[in-house]
Formats: sequence, C-alpha cells, structure tokens
Amino acid sequence: MQTKIFNTSKPDLLKASKLIETGGTLAFPTETVYGLGADATNNLAVAKIFQAKGRPSFNPLIIHCFSIEQIQAFAMWSSEAQTVAEKFWPGPLTMVLPLLPHSKIASLALAGLQTVAVRIPAHSIAQSILKLANTPIAAPSANPSGSVSATKTEHVISKLNGKIEGIVSGGSSEIGLEITIISFLPDPRILRFGAIDEADISEILSLDLKKKALDGEISAPGQLSSHYAPKGSIRLNSKVFKNKEVSLGFGKVICDLNLSRTENLIEAAANLFDCLHKLDEMGAEKIAVSPIPEEGIGIAINDRLKRAAAPK
Ligand code: TXA
Ligand code: MG
Repeated sequence: MQTKIFNTSKPDLLKASKLIETGGTLAFPTETVYGLGADATNNLAVAKIFQAKGRPSFNPLIIHCFSIEQIQAFAMWSSEAQTVAEKFWPGPLTMVLPLLPHSKIASLALAGLQTVAVRIPAHSIAQSILKLANTPIAAPSANPSGSVSATKTEHVISKLNGKIEGIVSGGSSEIGLEITIISFLPDPRILRFGAIDEADISEILSLDLKKKALDGEISAPGQLSSHYAPKGSIRLNSKVFKNKEVSLGFGKVICDLNLSRTENLIEAAANLFDCLHKLDEMGAEKIAVSPIPEEGIGIAINDRLKRAAAPK
C-alpha cells in the first residue's frame, strides 16, 4: 500500500478527510501525540488500525469528536461531564461515558464495551479533519504496538509507511505527553494521569481525585478485564461442530454465524464483537469457534477468543 502524505492546505485536508469517509486509515497530529484515525462508525476501517499497529490484542480506542453535540449522539451526557468539558475542552482530556443504546459507534472501536472514551482535541489540524470528515474518528497513538508514540510526521513515516493510507504532515505535537483520562462510571475517577493535572479537575468537581486513586479505587485502562465476553461456554479450534453448539465459523464452513466466509482476517476482526453480542442475543449456551490463523490481526482475534473462552 502506498501511504499518501498530505500537507495542511485546504485542498489537501479535504482529500485527507475523504480518506476517512471512505474507510481509510489516516495519521494526523493532535496536541498530545499523533493519532492513527479511522471512521469510528465503520468496523472494517477500525480493524485496519489494529492491523497497521500490529496490536496483539484489542483495546478500546478513544473516539475523537469536534463538538459536544456530536458526542451526545452516542454517549450519555451529564452535568459533571458538562462542567469538565467547559473547563478543559478542547484540550488534552478524555472522558469515559456510558454508551447510548443503538449508538453508531463500531463495536470493535469499543472492544465490545458499553462505555466510550471521548475527546475533543484542541489541535487545529485535528479539528479541521474532524469537521471535514463529519464523523467521529477512532484513534490510538500512531505507532506500532510496543514502540513509543509519535510526536512528529517523520516518526509516523519511519514506523508506519506502507501500512496506512495517509498521513497529514502537521508539525510537532506540542504536549508530547499522553492524555489524562477521567471516568464517570459510576462517579468521577482518574483512569490515567497525563497532560492535565488531576488537582485542577478535582477543584472544579469539588472532589479529591488523587486521594481516590491512592486509596486503590483506580482501574487502570489497558488492564481492563471487563472487555466483552459472551455468557456461553466457548470451545476453540473446532473443525467439527457438535449438536446443540452454536457455531461461529471462519471460511467456507456451514455455521450459524461466520466471521469471514472469504477467510479475510481484517473482515473477521471487524465482525468479531458484533458476533459475540449476537451469540448472547441468540441465548447460546455452548459455542464452538473455527480455528483462526495465528497471523497478523488473527493474533488479536485469537487473544480475544481465548479470554472469552477462559473459565468465568
Ligand atoms: O494522547 C492520546 O491519548 C492519544 C491520542 C491519539 O488521542 N491516544 C492514545 O490512545 O494514546 P491509546 O489507545 O494508546 O490509549 C487509549 C486508552 C487506553 O489505555 C484504553 O484502555 C483507554 O484509553 N480507554 C478507551 N476506551 C475506554 C473505556 N471505555 N473505558 C476505559 N478506558 C478506555
Ligand atoms: Mg498508545
């Protein structure tokens, strides 16, 4: 794949945002680090992010937006969220909010969770892309899994050239530090310390968030054990499905649900969390899953399936 480099002129930003609209992956600067973005409502586009990063597992992604109204279309807003937003947005702060039912956000971007991490970046290029594409953009940091975050276009080019569709060359990310993450579930707590001082957030919410974190009430993201798993028991690497099992196939097999008939791993990743949710809707008690090749994004699919199959 050839990676297109865009400058920050209006016509180039328009072309870059078209890439997002048409399901492509695009690296762009934010004030914290470069993000690797895709249309957050498109599972296939989001799957390409994980493929490009070579992530061995699926983490939920931050959904970047340009306005509170845009967020309110898919997340449950609250007066506390409003207070924090008025003080710190646009800026280097991410809020975790409950997801609204029937939201359009791709299940893969949420790793199947019913909560969603949202951010309104202050960086003018990020804002332009978000407005022009007119869709929420899911984006982790624009670096291969396990390597340091990119704060310059050159970092992104050296690590991801040929693996993503485009890069907006927009100078350095001024902060270069990861974002602060605050959750409101069930009440405000800091999940990740970062660019914004927790004392400033504590002050406007009249709470001592630091004390809470030290008291051990913190649940660090990345260590989230609550990623979605269906209720039924799961048998992996099933070449033959048994009676009474609900089958989740891969490739040309006769089955109840199929991750990808054409054995396309990106498509399988895109369908994964929707299929896991469907298995619950079907009331599946015993689930059998076809073997999935342990290569590329298949490694992340197998990781998720193994966790789902572990005794509950
Ligand atoms: O500055 C940044 O944070 C960059 C820019 C591009 O926004 N993003 C970034 O993303 O570094 P990433 O994927 O490295 O970190 C996102 C964090 C992860 O630790 C993830 O677990 C957490 O956000 N997260 C996402 N959704 C969540 C949710 N629903 N609940 C709790 N944590 C969540
Ligand atoms: Mg990262």
